[in-house]
Amino acid sequence: MCGIVGAVAERNVVEILLEGLKRLEYRGYDSAGVALLQPNGTLTRLRKTGKVQALADAVAEHEALGSTGIAHTRWATHGGVTEYNAHPHCSNDRISVVHNGIIENYLALRAGLTEQGYTFDSDTDTETIAHTVHAELQKGGSLLKAVQNSVSQFHGAYGTVIMDSEDPSRVVVARSGSPLVIGLGLGENFIASDQMALLPVTRRFIFLEEGDVAEITRRSVSIFDVNGNPVEREVVESNIEHDAGDKAGYRHYMLKEIHEQPTVVRNTLQQRVDERGLVPGIFGAGAEAILAKVKHVQIIACGTSYHAGMTARYWLEQYANVSCNVEIASEFRYRKSVVYENSLLVTISQSGETADTLAALRLAKELGYMSSLAICNVPGSSLVRESDLSFMTRAGAEIGVASTKAFTTQLTAFLMLTLALGEHNGISEADSSGIVNALHSLPAKLEETLAITQGIEDLAEEFADKNHSLFLGRGDQYPIAMEGALKLKEISYIHAEAYASGELKHGPLALIDEEMPVIVVAPNNELLEKLKSNVEEVRARGGIMYVFADGDANFASDDTMRVINVPHCASPIAPIVYTLPLQLLSYYVALIKGTDVDQPRNLAKSVTVE
Ligand code: G6P
Repeated sequence: MCGIVGAVAERNVVEILLEGLKRLEYRGYDSAGVALLQPNGTLTRLRKTGKVQALADAVAEHEALGSTGIAHTRWATHGGVTEYNAHPHCSNDRISVVHNGIIENYLALRAGLTEQGYTFDSDTDTETIAHTVHAELQKGGSLLKAVQNSVSQFHGAYGTVIMDSEDPSRVVVARSGSPLVIGLGLGENFIASDQMALLPVTRRFIFLEEGDVAEITRRSVSIFDVNGNPVEREVVESNIEHDAGDKAGYRHYMLKEIHEQPTVVRNTLQQRVDERGLVPGIFGAGAEAILAKVKHVQIIACGTSYHAGMTARYWLEQYANVSCNVEIASEFRYRKSVVYENSLLVTISQSGETADTLAALRLAKELGYMSSLAICNVPGSSLVRESDLSFMTRAGAEIGVASTKAFTTQLTAFLMLTLALGEHNGISEADSSGIVNALHSLPAKLEETLAITQGIEDLAEEFADKNHSLFLGRGDQYPIAMEGALKLKEISYIHAEAYASGELKHGPLALIDEEMPVIVVAPNNELLEKLKSNVEEVRARGGIMYVFADGDANFASDDTMRVINVPHCASPIAPIVYTLPLQLLSYYVALIKGTDVDQPRNLAKSVTVE
């Protein structure tokens, strides 16, 4: 989704801004722009639809310069994908603005501003920010004051950076609902929507809080809270690897991230599960007392993270004896729901900034959940800061829009939560040691599983000309089938649906023919015989099947069935292990189809608007 980078420096900041935008490309966008101020107040604005490279070419052609600047990648919400809708938006060649989020009352603002004589050059909500700030400046006072007066008029979500041609020494930024992080340099300071954008120039960050407005100059950062009072915010040293943005020799980030899974899962487990079992205190200070009281878990998430939650429900109920509901955040936040006694709200999010998940957390606090836990990959993200407890998945930066390593580390985290809650709710000794042993074996199992790539590449060849597909699984493999179908849709644009295989005869069986490949995930567990019956139902109707199965499950390839053997693994980790071949299948199908694997059309990495 939209990305912001800004800088106030002595040197020319164009390259810093463009590099920042490139580092945000992974979030998904459709146009890009930059506005630059020279010390004498000369303003240059360049915007392009398409990739950041098109903007970089325009910057080179115009030899654009500036020591203060703002830049943006836009993911269209209000107004089509055109150059005139791309940010920055300007008012009277004086105020330039970049904005993430949505100003919901923009039509009313627009009408009022039009009455005051302002003309609009775009269809966006953002342009109302530029004119509102300009109108406030006309009343006298500083840019900071004008922005503070303006934000009180905005309803909705914004992370915005504002620049005034008449004072190139500063930018003013405001955050409400869309994240912003200030990067601290030496004699220069920066702003971005995501710390990834600024890693080449600094590792010292201040995460702005809801309602903050800040004035940034080369040598100072002044922050004011929602009431306009000056505040100090903590400076955080980032330990994200600087080169997390590199492909490390892989053709795509997604492939790199798939192959990183053994390592990042090992990192997720490190110092959390040892030879004696779960290490105490891994859910943070005060967690033990809270976890001891939990009688119910409500999981909330979106997209791939929701599938992790769906899988966790099977584990929490089967092993930990804790009842669990799972819901998509955008549904949860807009319906009346019942809060169970001693219920722990668990949000899951790779980014920690997904608008619906954050809104659901805030609602849950009002509803009176006993406590909240965020399972997240980004320390310092809004979700982490606003939850009572947090657990970091340590997947490292995930750049591919289609989530892979974030998902498997989320599942790993949930197995640890299962152990922790199980300890207070009568988990059996056999289940507890079974999960611990399975977790110890997990990184090596994932390495073994990645070795079956060749068979999957061959399978992808057969698959790539299809338009539709069905994914089947049972029990805790049903959400894995859902995740497999989502991956295929996201990056290959093949229509894919997942079913709990017991549901086959309640409708989807009508779709079966040789043009509808059926992908089956079939570990050797207590549901195997049931699953085999479902496979026979497909076979009897002339369906073509691709079965990912345990070698011991006794499936054999024939004219209607291709069997790919997945290494044998213990039941608790099977959903994690079986995820990998499905990720690889989607990847190789997308490769054959020639789609934009890392930035699939219309999608965004971090969905910061609802
Ligand atoms: C977007 C991404 C998905 C992700 C979902 C939830 O749709 O493209 O990959 O699963 O958001 O994101 P989160 O950061 O909350 O896990």
